[in-house]
Formats: sequence, structure tokens, C-alpha cells
Amino acid sequence: MDNPAIQTNQDFLYEQVADDIVSMIEAGSFRLGDRIPSVRELSRRRGVSITTVMQAYRSLEDKGYIEARPQSGYYVRLRQSPGLPTPEPISRAALYPAEISVQKLVMKIFHDQLIPGMVQFGAALPDPDLLPTARLNRLLASVSRKPDFRQNACGIVEGCDELRVQVAQHSYQYGCHLAPEDILITSGCVEAMSLALQATCKPGDTVAIESPTYFTLLQMLESQGLRALEIPTHPETGISVEALRFAIEHHPVRACLFITNFNNPLGCLMPDERKAEMVALLAEHEIPLIEDDINGELYFSGRRPNVAKAYDKKGLVLLCSSFSKDISPSYRVGWIVPGRYKDEIERLKLVSNISPPILTQLAIAEFLAGGGYDHHLRTIRKAYAKKTACMADAVLRHFPPGTAVSSPQGGFVLWVQMAKTVDALAMYTQALKLGITIVPGHVFSPSAGYRHFIRLNTAAWSDQTAWAVQRLGTLAAQLEKTH
Ligand SMILES: Cc1ncc(COP(=O)(O)O)c(C=O)c1O
Repeated sequence: MDNPAIQTNQDFLYEQVADDIVSMIEAGSFRLGDRIPSVRELSRRRGVSITTVMQAYRSLEDKGYIEARPQSGYYVRLRQSPGLPTPEPISRAALYPAEISVQKLVMKIFHDQLIPGMVQFGAALPDPDLLPTARLNRLLASVSRKPDFRQNACGIVEGCDELRVQVAQHSYQYGCHLAPEDILITSGCVEAMSLALQATCKPGDTVAIESPTYFTLLQMLESQGLRALEIPTHPETGISVEALRFAIEHHPVRACLFITNFNNPLGCLMPDERKAEMVALLAEHEIPLIEDDINGELYFSGRRPNVAKAYDKKGLVLLCSSFSKDISPSYRVGWIVPGRYKDEIERLKLVSNISPPILTQLAIAEFLAGGGYDHHLRTIRKAYAKKTACMADAVLRHFPPGTAVSSPQGGFVLWVQMAKTVDALAMYTQALKLGITIVPGHVFSPSAGYRHFIRLNTAAWSDQTAWAVQRLGTLAAQLEKTH
């Protein structure tokens, strides 16, 4: 017997029960794959009949929110299994509000990567199977047993000497001849870039960036009160030096922030001679270049490209990188070669976090010193080149005619251009409901352009995730038609 004090209209009552479950799903209290309360339990808690709850759950099943699992209960629906032939119409209410600000969206993109059971085409995270995790963890355990660590000492602001020596030794491969004292260890590449911006700019300054560029860099500019000036970027050869010259002559550019090797999201590679030309131009105007080389090791063919830093005679290039793409995103170990800004960067680093954590630095230093890094890189380069080619091919097969994809020469992201009528934000929201993360183009430029582009993480491509590209293609076709 339903509790008459709550509601007497049976139809309305089951809808109310269903609506409450939906609102908890949309608020993230119940997430994909979570078990929702059993029929009996909810009936008791709500003071409604079992029939009412059953009716509510059946309506939620029909709408695709939940599924019944025999002998187990009701669960928030996971993505459809790959083999199912026809996609159902996507008409359910959004899991997240339709109007999402770019700031909030970027935060959400970072959170999406934590949702279990999703196909992770969103955040540009490496394939876990291509990371040397077991070896690294063994090294971590072994360095933690060393006598110094029983004393649990605090490190020095520059970072551990062992790791700086390794980074210096490797630097000849990208055209530099670094000494350990040229290098400061940071918590990932993002901290290196953030320190570099703080050391070279003050609020209100203008920074030249690629267009499109990695969204975290845009957030960084915004949070430091800096203005972005977008420089046209060729999908294969990177920024136009001519356009940069024009920009410098017409705007007070305080610094440049470029991903010279395999830009995220384009995957383009600035030829070494153009880097030299750009560095000479910036030297003429005394403009610092903050260079993000996080993808530099992940070239698909030829040799390791140089960094712009290799052509720097005045100490104006601040080279930033990390091991997040090839060894471990979770250890948060990166570095900066700050050139003439070294004292300022050290000061900023000290007031920011005194020193980077020591154990993770030492584990990576041992990994590099122990040999096998070059072999590891050869293996992952091949794997990412293959994954990227397969995924690009699948996009071209499954997306509507007229779709274009980038031709990355390294890294592991793909930039997809769809018809102008496809709203990438709507696609993002609907893809989430199918259990697939993507990044909408809106977040790759300060002017929120690229609204009909998406970025896909090719590291997540495999035979098991291929179905998701097909579903995205269907979604693109539906969105193209509905506008
Ligand atoms: C171009 C670029 N720079 C920096 C980062 C972040 O680096 P880290 O995790 O080492 O801070 C990423 C991660 O996706 C990236 O793509």
C-alpha cells in the first residue's frame, strides 16, 4: 500500500520515483555501472508499493537510464556492447547540463577520465599497457629502501642531481648540450610552463600561442591574467613565422608559448630550419619563447626532431617537458631548462612547493640510467603510429562524407573536422551517455572557435574500442542532419 500522505495518484507517483533516480544519475550520485537501490529497499524507504517502484524502474529501463541484471539488481547503464548493430536514437536527457562554460568543461574533461568503464578518447593519456609501470614500481620500492630515505629528507629546489644528469645526457638527441645545472625538475610539464609564464610575463601582457592549442595552456594564461594572441598554425608545419613576424610588429607580444614538436591537438611538426628562423626572429626582438616539447620523443618516422632551444644563443628559450607521455603520467616528473630566467624560476619554484618529491625522481633516474629507455621509446613510437593510423582510417570510414582528419607526425591525438552544422559540445554530451569521452573543439582556442572539431586520443584505440568510433560517426551524422 502506498503512503497516501506522499501522493495518491499512482501514475504521478511512479514518475516521481523515476525522476528522483534520474536526478541522482544526472548529479553524478549514481554513475555509469553503479547499482541503484533494490526495488524492495526503495519501496520501504519511500513508503510506496513494490508495484510503483517496479513501474518506475521499467520506465527508466525503457528510456535507457538503467538496466536489469539477472539475480543482481538494477544498474546505471553502461555503454552498449560493441556487437550491437543499430544505435538507438539518442534522446535521453543530458547527463550534464547542456550549457557548460569552457572553464567548467575543461574541469569536467579531467574528471571524465576517472569514470570507470568509459572508452577514453578524451584526455590525452598514454595507453597504460605501453607504460613501464611494473619496472618503475620496482625501482620506486628499491630507491625507498636506500639509507637516505630512512631519514625522509627534503630535496633541493633544483631537483635530484641523478635525474638532472640523465636529462642532460639525453639532450644531445634533440640538438642541445645541456649541463645538469641548466635543468630544474618540476611537477610535470604543466608546472614548468606555469613557472615560465610567471617568470616572463605580468598580468595584462600578451602571449602569442598556436591556434588551435592545448586547452590547459589557455587556462594557465587566463588564470595569470594574460591575453592570448592566436597565430595561424599549419596542420603539418606548425606556426607561420611570417604571421608571427607580423604579430610582433603590430602587437606588444611579451612571450610566445608554442608546442613546436607535435602540437596538441594538430600533431604538426615545425621543421627544424623554421625553428631556427623563429628563434632568430624572437632574439631580434628580445622575446622569450616558452617551448613545450612533451611529445618530442613520440615521432613516427625519421629522427628525433630538434627543439627550438637548440638554436637559442641568448638564453631566451625556456624549454619545458616531462615524462608524462612516455614513462608515467602519475609520477608527475617534468623539467625546465630556463635559460636566462633561471634565478627567477628557482625563486618561484621555491615559494610554490620548495622542491619536487624525491622518490619518483629517483625511480625515473634509475629507469633512465639502467638502459632500455631508447628501446622502450622505439616500441611505443611504433605502437602509437599504428594506433593513430588505424583510428584516422576508422574515422574516415565511419564519419559522414566531408569529415577531415589531421595527419599527425607524432604524439597520440587526432583532430577531426566535421560539417559546420555539427556542434561538438552536443556531441561530447551525447557521446558521454554512450560511454565514450571526447574533447570538443571549443576548448582549444580562447575565442571558442573550432566548434565543429573534436580531439580524439589515439592511445585508447584498440580492437575493443573500435566500435566507439563507429558510434561517434553515427552521432556526427545525426547531429549534422538535425541542424
Ligand atoms: C602539449 C601538452 N603539454 C603538457 C601536458 C601536461 O603535461 P604534464 O602531465 O607533464 O604536466 C600535456 C598533457 O596532455 C600536453 O598534451
